[in-house]
Amino acid sequence: MTQPSRLAIVPFVSVDRMMKLVLAIGVERFLTELAAYIEEDFRRWELFDKTPRIASHSHDGVIELMPTSDGKMYGFKYVNGHPKNMREGRQTVTAFGVLADVGSGYPMLLTEMTILTALRTAATSAVAAKYLAPKGSQAMAIIGNGAQSEFQAIAFKALLGVDKLRLYDIDRSASEKCARNLAAKGFDITICSTGQDAVEGVDIITTVTADKQYATILTDNMVGSGVHINAVGGDCPGKTELHRDILLRSDIFVEFPPQTRIEGEIQQLDADHPVTELWQVMTGKAQGRKTKEQITLFDSVGFATEDFSALRYVRDQLQATGLYEELDLLADPDEPRDLFGMLLRAAMQPAA
Ligand SMILES: NC(=O)c1ccc[n+]([C@@H]2O[C@H](COP(=O)([O-])OP(=O)(O)OC[C@H]3O[C@@H](n4cnc5c(N)ncnc54)[C@H](O)[C@@H]3O)[C@@H](O)[C@H]2O)c1
Repeated sequence: MTQPSRLAIVPFVSVDRMMKLVLAIGVERFLTELAAYIEEDFRRWELFDKTPRIASHSHDGVIELMPTSDGKMYGFKYVNGHPKNMREGRQTVTAFGVLADVGSGYPMLLTEMTILTALRTAATSAVAAKYLAPKGSQAMAIIGNGAQSEFQAIAFKALLGVDKLRLYDIDRSASEKCARNLAAKGFDITICSTGQDAVEGVDIITTVTADKQYATILTDNMVGSGVHINAVGGDCPGKTELHRDILLRSDIFVEFPPQTRIEGEIQQLDADHPVTELWQVMTGKAQGRKTKEQITLFDSVGFATEDFSALRYVRDQLQATGLYEELDLLADPDEPRDLFGMLLRAAMQPAA
């Protein structure tokens, strides 16, 4: 077979290359640099094409497409959410994504995004907490100690200096796995036997459980004044983590309201319940934390611009690291209109 032309090639980052990339850069530095890209894109929020993600719901989960564009580049992510998967040896969340050039429509990058989603979700949570969590926060509860949990912990340490963790999961072996994975990362870690125990004395509560129902991971009595809640696991219609009364006591910050009102904790509230958009806080149009006593809630669902930022960040690392493969993805006949001729000529090539 003849070699594909340069125009046929799209850089591809496999899971193997993504792991090598994260390890080569260092997970803390990766999260910090990715957080800067995410924040940069939130600051230019108004120029992005924005739409609630396109969700296809089924009995056991959801498959979603998350597109956006800044006018120069276009990105999308394919992502699923299937809480039952974990019990069958599969990931709850898997993803891959594409970055493309708006000028030609040609893809510039195809990459795994399962690991990248965990990194971008954690980086986004930490960026939000920079504006919302109490100053000098050190202790964080993490409720739900699955695939996302270590990434969350490391991002909060790298960006905010959080170094005390109180872990809780209904499955203690998940907390033990999380503590083991974080053992060399400089945390003081306590494994707790209830959610109530986990939130004792913390500045920040991260909920990152997976369950396809209106769950009550936090009840009203568990949340004292001054706490920041980073609610990550409630991200689908009928899939929430917080008791409604907590929402009524909190100042709520969201990514893109039209999507969060469908998917976030605020699906439990009236459609006009006041929320503040994160980009407005980052650009100084709205205030983040105002008082020490205030309860702040980041109602995270994950928005397309965060994936766009992650795709952009990964693409910017390719040249220096060489950690990608060349994928023969795009048909490129010698004469653009001779697509069929290319097929005919291929039939005449000797079999490889
Ligand atoms: N907001 C976002 O941007 C975003 C991004 C990625 C994932 N998520 C969501 O985060 C959640 C966690 O994802 P994951 O990949 O870590 O899933 P996972 O299946 O790997 O882990 C979930 C953990 O939650 C635990 N759990 C379930 N119910 C619990 C309860 N009532 N109390 C305590 N622990 C409980 C499970 O035992 C499991 O260990 C999912 O709901 C996923 O959809 C959100």
